[in-house]
Amino acid sequence: MANPLFATKPLSVIMDEAKETGEGSLRRALGPLNLITLGIGAIIGAGIFVLTGQAAATSAGPAIVVSFILSGIICAFAGLCYAEFASLIPISGSAYTYGYATLGEIFAWIIGWDLILEYAFGAATVASGWSGYFVSFIEDLGFHINPKWITTPGTVMLLYKGHWVAANTVQRSLAAAGINPASLPHGTGVFDFVAFVAIALVTVVLVIGVKESANFNSGIVIVKVAIVLVFIGIAGMFVMHHPSLASANWHPFIPANTGNFGDYGWSGVARGAAVIFFAYIGFDAVSTAAQEAKNPQRDMPIGILGSLVICTVLYILVSGLLTAVVNFRDLNVADPVAIGIDATGVRWGSLLVKAGAIAGLGSVMLVMLLGQSRVFYSMSRDGLLPKWAGAIHKRFRTPWITSIVVGVCVAFFASLIPIGDLAVLVNIGTLLAFVIVCAGVWVLRRKRPDLPRPFKTPLVPLIPILGIVTSLAAMLSLPAKTWWRLLIWLAIGLVIYVFYGRKHSNVRRNAAAQEGFVK
Ligand code: ALA
Repeated sequence: MANPLFATKPLSVIMDEAKETGEGSLRRALGPLNLITLGIGAIIGAGIFVLTGQAAATSAGPAIVVSFILSGIICAFAGLCYAEFASLIPISGSAYTYGYATLGEIFAWIIGWDLILEYAFGAATVASGWSGYFVSFIEDLGFHINPKWITTPGTVMLLYKGHWVAANTVQRSLAAAGINPASLPHGTGVFDFVAFVAIALVTVVLVIGVKESANFNSGIVIVKVAIVLVFIGIAGMFVMHHPSLASANWHPFIPANTGNFGDYGWSGVARGAAVIFFAYIGFDAVSTAAQEAKNPQRDMPIGILGSLVICTVLYILVSGLLTAVVNFRDLNVADPVAIGIDATGVRWGSLLVKAGAIAGLGSVMLVMLLGQSRVFYSMSRDGLLPKWAGAIHKRFRTPWITSIVVGVCVAFFASLIPIGDLAVLVNIGTLLAFVIVCAGVWVLRRKRPDLPRPFKTPLVPLIPILGIVTSLAAMLSLPAKTWWRLLIWLAIGLVIYVFYGRKHSNVRRNAAAQEGFVK
């Protein structure tokens, strides 16, 4: 037998699984519009609402717009590759299954394990961002929660202008106002209970069912896009009436590098791109709903590419306007888009943005957790994870046990790990998945040129190669400690594979049985 580490899962088996219906299988309920909204629901979230401000303030300055364009290009290459796979292999395992079909079991395992970084840690990142907006919103209404329970352990919080804020984000404003931070009430975070509750609530929705989840999602997406458009409208008008302020905020467009890689200058633009890449994550999550789509061959590319294009345009506008209305150095806060609206003087705008972000980030958590449980479902069906991970609830028809286990773990990540650390880990994991998916498209074109491909990535191998190179470049722009964390994560995964997956793999068992039969 060829090296079983590289055993591939036969496409015919995958296609048969994709056709399964009835009890014990997922329900096909989603049309093209559901899929686009699922995509937008996953994409617009903590990236644009939180990380844009932080990345502009600490890495790219107003050139964060360029970072958004660069990151959008990487996602376009990967998106075209995902679209080919998702229409060809419409199954819930997404990149994991594509890897299994093309590059072999060990790659499939690596990618499945790596996708936990994207989906589970991604949901945790968003929950952390949600907590920031939620707390700020209720504080506007006059309610306060003890700072111990609204942020991750060790974060020093100050009570400033009626809001609990992280001390390191307001240093500049305090210095400018001549306020001694020690004179303000302060406290230290212990556990982000708000983020914990957010994940718990979304998990309940997911266990109840995907159709209900998709409807819930569509409603939220409309609100979220409306809020983004309101911001663009208000900030756009403001910039038209105050062009000199906007142009002052945009100078210097690329602040001078401080001597360290990633601290402004062109390396800051690259670092900014690698950080706000988080804002684009989610279009690929559409592919995990392939088994729940009514007509995946036609609709998967529409869902993936449609949501990506819409969000790219919105992001370029939002990031450009945000740095025009507020000096980028003041954007390192938990709710930068609300700060942006405040700066325009439209008083009701900030409350509206906060309310929209609270609803909007909810839908991102939903799609991320949905994607995570669907990947585990696929891995369990292949024998690489225990059977319970793929058990479907008889009435709700959802992978309920896995949803609950994932939900509990994610709730703890969100409550204990700072948002910045979570986001870059998610990014490096997702970029690695992009590399493998792009390589997979190319490999499958060579190995199986005959397959009927409802959607074809153009210019193969050029587009996959560009996808691989640009994703790797973005990974290299991330801090060294993120690389170490990725390697440790993958090492843990390999140990689990060696002691469990390798021994229980159905593909290996079937291959061995066939070989015995031939002998
Ligand atoms: N793109 C998603 C967000 O920004 C993950 O929240």
